[in-house]
Amino acid sequence: MTKPTHHIFVCGSFRATGAQGVCHKKESSQLLQYFEQEASDRGLDGVMVSSTGCLKACDNGPVVIVQPQNVWYKQVNEEVADAILDAIENNTVAEEHVLA
Ligand code: FES
Repeated sequence: MTKPTHHIFVCGSFRATGAQGVCHKKESSQLLQYFEQEASDRGLDGVMVSSTGCLKACDNGPVVIVQPQNVWYKQVNEEVADAILDAIENNTVAEEHVLA
């Protein structure tokens, strides 16, 4: 296995109680698939995409984290996902979508 250069974590809303939070209701699972497909289409071989448990920022969901930069993004949809992937490609941050 080759370690990723960037790891995109998409909130999957999982909670220890078995309940699922806001991000799942806002279709974060489809968002995860979109990130995977788009990263593949762009040839971003170093980008890995994973789902997480609730990131405790539900009001700003769907929430996405990009590591190793540790940038948290809020209210991510496909348009924002494109901006995040653009930022990864350009080694920048999609500032207007950052969760402060
Ligand atoms: S469900 Fe995504 S931050 Fe809580």
